[in-house]
Order: sequence, then C-alpha cells, then structure tokens
Amino acid sequence: MSDALPSELAAGLEATASRRGPLGSPVYYFNETGSTNDVAATLAEGGAAEGTLVLASTQTAGRGRLGRQWHSPPDAGLYASLIFRSAAAAPFLTLAGGVAVAEGIRQATALPVHIKWPNDIVISDRARPSRRRKLAGLLAEASSGADGVLHVVLGIGINIKATAYPPELADKASSLETELGRPVDAGAVLGETLAELERAMGSLRRGDAARVLGRWRELAPSAFGSSVEADVGGERVAGVAEGIDDSGALLVRVNGRLERVLSGEVLWT
Ligand code: BTN
Repeated sequence: MSDALPSELAAGLEATASRRGPLGSPVYYFNETGSTNDVAATLAEGGAAEGTLVLASTQTAGRGRLGRQWHSPPDAGLYASLIFRSAAAAPFLTLAGGVAVAEGIRQATALPVHIKWPNDIVISDRARPSRRRKLAGLLAEASSGADGVLHVVLGIGINIKATAYPPELADKASSLETELGRPVDAGAVLGETLAELERAMGSLRRGDAARVLGRWRELAPSAFGSSVEADVGGERVAGVAEGIDDSGALLVRVNGRLERVLSGEVLWT
C-alpha cells in the first residue's frame, strides 16, 4: 500500500525509537498523495492504532487552517499526519503539537523558533523581531460519534528546504534551511518532534495539561502584549493580546474588557 521510506527519515525514526512511545509506528510513506490528513483519517476509520504515522514526499491537495492550501512541493518539506485516540488528550492536542514541533525543531537544528497563536511555528527577523516568517503549521481534525471523540488526526507541515512560495506567501514563509543557511536533516526534525510530542502526551495522560500550557506560553512571547485584530462574536476588533486561557483561547483586551478569541484570522500589528 505504501512506498519505501527514504533512508534519512528511517534513520531519524530509528534514532528516537526509545523516546517516541507509540508515535510513528506503523508508518506509511507515499511518494505522492492528496493530503496525508485524509489518508490518516481513512486509516483511523479502518481501526488504525494511536500513533500511526502517514508521511508524503508531496501533497497534491495539502490543506491548512481556514480552508487554505498548504504548499507541498516534492521533497521540500515534512508532510506528516498522526492518529490519536485518547479522548482526554484531544482538547490539548493542537497546543501539545505546537509545543512539540517548536521543541523538535529546536532540538534538531538549534534554530530559536517560537509559536504564534494559534499554532504557527515562526522565526523572528533579526533586525525587526516583530516581523516573523512561518516555518511550520499544524492542522488537527477530529472525528466524533455519539460517545464523543473517535479519533483526532494531527497534521504537521514543516518547510525544510528553500522553495518558490506563491506570491502571497513570499515574504511571510520561510524554510529551516533558508534560515540556517545549511542543509537540515529532515529525519532528525521528524524524530525529535515525535519524541517531544510523546513527552507532551505523557503529561496529558498523567492529567498534567498545565505543563504543556506552561511550555506553550514560554514558547509564544508574541501572545503577551502584542497589538492584534481579531474576530470576537462575529465582529472585527482591535486590542492587546494577554496570553491564552487553559482551553487555548487567545485572550484579547478590547476597550478594557477581556475577550476570548477561539478561531479565525488574527492580524498581529
Ligand atoms: C496551517 O498552518 O494552516 C496548518 C498547515 C498543516 C499542513 C499539514 S501538511 C500535512 C497535513 N496534511 C495536510 O493536508 N495538512 C497538514
């Protein structure tokens, strides 16, 4: 059913096998697919276990948040989807995933990436730190039944190599290799990200969501004190970000009132 896993990715998984728990086995690799999230959802519906990993070299219908396309050219990025079944962890999976991708990139490359709410992994411009370029993103898609969450597919896209982005992304997106000016071991990024995700899952399984939330807050300095524009109750408002609450909602002070932003486009001004 799947294609041969490239040796660089196999080596990264092998090197982290003792720290990944169930995450990353089994692994399905495709030279080309529509969206790894769709493949993982189909596998989950067929009973695939927690931790099942789907990878692709390129996606013809990669998608991001808010119905956007996720630019997925061949061999330029990691396009990965994981299946989760733990109902207790489900509400925190996106936050845990963001922490894991940021930590995984830091471990594998030493690049000081941050998180930008809700879950963009970004690097600040050295000359103008408030200007950030996006290096990775996450898309969690849940399937629910009468008894609650059946499974969650956590999709992770990480830009590894320099590539030509669509014009609207040209000055907003970047890749690990562009930022570092050297080749990056995609297998190490994958393996370390899965190991960090397993660490975060361990906290969630123990009921310690506070550790994950605490680390998210440390990794997301822009969520505190930045001027933002966001959707609140169907209205576009301007205010100042004051962090996230324990459900992951962005808190924005608008005219003295603290509003919760749950979704939608946030403009960081
Ligand atoms: C975002 O920042 O908008 C989320 C991007 C998520 C992209 C990944 S790539 C692997 C997985 N398959 C998809 O179609 N999307 C996610």
